[in-house]
Amino acid sequence: MAKPVILDMDPGIDDAAAIAVAVNRPDLDVKLITAVAGNVSVDKTTLNVLKLLEFFDKDIPVASGAKAPLKREFQDASYIHGESGMSGYDFPTVTSKPLDADAVSAIHETLQASAEPITIIATGAYTNIAMLLQAHPEDTQFIKEFILMGGSISGGNVSSVAEFNVFTDPDAAAIVFNSGLPITMIGLDVTLKALLTPETINELAHKGRAGEMLHGIITAYEDVHDGGKPMHDVNTILYAVKPEVIKTEPYAIDVVTEGPALGATVADTQHRWHEDGYTNANVGVDIDAAAFNQWFLDQVDLMNK
Ligand code: RIB
Ligand code: CA
Repeated sequence: MAKPVILDMDPGIDDAAAIAVAVNRPDLDVKLITAVAGNVSVDKTTLNVLKLLEFFDKDIPVASGAKAPLKREFQDASYIHGESGMSGYDFPTVTSKPLDADAVSAIHETLQASAEPITIIATGAYTNIAMLLQAHPEDTQFIKEFILMGGSISGGNVSSVAEFNVFTDPDAAAIVFNSGLPITMIGLDVTLKALLTPETINELAHKGRAGEMLHGIITAYEDVHDGGKPMHDVNTILYAVKPEVIKTEPYAIDVVTEGPALGATVADTQHRWHEDGYTNANVGVDIDAAAFNQWFLDQVDLMNK
């Protein structure tokens, strides 16, 4: 039986790779994809979702969400993903449209209509999810698990301590981490260990139409590290289908919402700030990088079937 999921994303090139994997896996039933402002504006992230679903000929509802964080000013990451948010491939002009309903309404209605609790996977700022929890607190009972890409307990990427998704909307992140939802946090502690190697990226170019598209956008992707490029958001899909591949530890995570450490996700590793035994997230701490590279290549073969 396929796992029902809702994807809340900000494509963004690594989000795009995550969507490409998720919508082509028979063991995931993607009920809805919602877009949020993050890597680029919400108009662009929404359009990018539509481009990807038309590329893969998938009929999945799309809803547009928050244009800006709850309180902070919106700052994009077009310097990483390009002006469109998905540079490197010339997608055909889309003909499809998002739902009239906004993301929060669409998520709420999808949760209410489902015969079973749904896993939500969020890979942008968690603004839509925080707004859902504020408007419909009762919906937590319909959320089986909340898998998020974001945070770090070993250093940031937009400051020495903050990761981009949490930094973009720390107030939303604080609401989510304090919500009581069953959270799995796939942060930089995992995603910076699972770099796509240059060899893997080159191999994509020889993997059919899907591989050519992914090769184009991942080559254009400017998140470059020694040894390769992190497909941050793809790790959440891997965890959703093969959780045993990512090592996790339970922690009490607090989000810093102001000052120079804004966006930090602090793990109370010595139980100084919370009751003994209190934890609010399963935090990813390790992954086999070679296994991730091979798994990703195998997903592209699935896309071409
Ligand atoms: O810090 C990495 C995260 O920020 C990824 O989700 C990337 O897409 C950006 O949203
Ligand atoms: Ca993202």
